[in-house]
Amino acid sequence: MPDKIKFTIDGKECLAEPGQTIYEAARANGVYIPVLCHYEGLKPVGSCRICSVRVNGRWMASCTQPVTEGMVIENAVPEVEEFRKAIIEMLLVEGNHFCPTCEKSGNCELQALAYRYQIMVPQFPYLFPKREIEAFPGFLLEHNRCIQCQRCVRAIQTRDGQKIFTMKNRSKDVRVNVDRKLAAKMSEDQIQKAMDICPVGAILKKEVGFRLPIGKRKYDHRPIGSEIEEKK
Ligand code: FES
Repeated sequence: MPDKIKFTIDGKECLAEPGQTIYEAARANGVYIPVLCHYEGLKPVGSCRICSVRVNGRWMASCTQPVTEGMVIENAVPEVEEFRKAIIEMLLVEGNHFCPTCEKSGNCELQALAYRYQIMVPQFPYLFPKREIEAFPGFLLEHNRCIQCQRCVRAIQTRDGQKIFTMKNRSKDVRVNVDRKLAAKMSEDQIQKAMDICPVGAILKKEVGFRLPIGKRKYDHRPIGSEIEEKK
């Protein structure tokens, strides 16, 4: 069996399995690195950059970068944390995120990160873009809240491998696109999976939004990242 890889994160000596990404290895060593586009079990795409770290002085996305011997990783240092905070702020102003009325409040990773990074008022102006809400037989697609992480694109497919969610347009007009014919055939479980895998409240299974009351949700009492940090 190949030897373990030695590296450090913020001065802490850690060990990784060969092939692990920095994010995976950090997690295994009780170090929290925030992610948004990444989801366990899905191929990482490295698009949101919230998981950025500095490695030997260079910026890298920890969800795509494999660990190598002797890496010196900076994670919870002011410059890296400020960079992540700015990304969260940009995501908040770029869409329309009205947490108090959102069905996903308390289960939303973007909201939980905003709390973790103590964002009160973003440093950037709100753009208030005009976005639509689309309805499908079993779910709603709320484009106002979508952060284009592409988790749904990667996770939800038909049995024969056809993508139900894809991306269309470019730059500020990029949107999730749903194949209406395929969406009409989605099972209840698939719709639930799409809703659960969405880090925000963009995919909403009909009639279940408030089944679990606000106050009893995932991040209502446990800040994001605490499940990893508590294992230290
Ligand atoms: Fe790594 Fe999005 S979580 S780039």
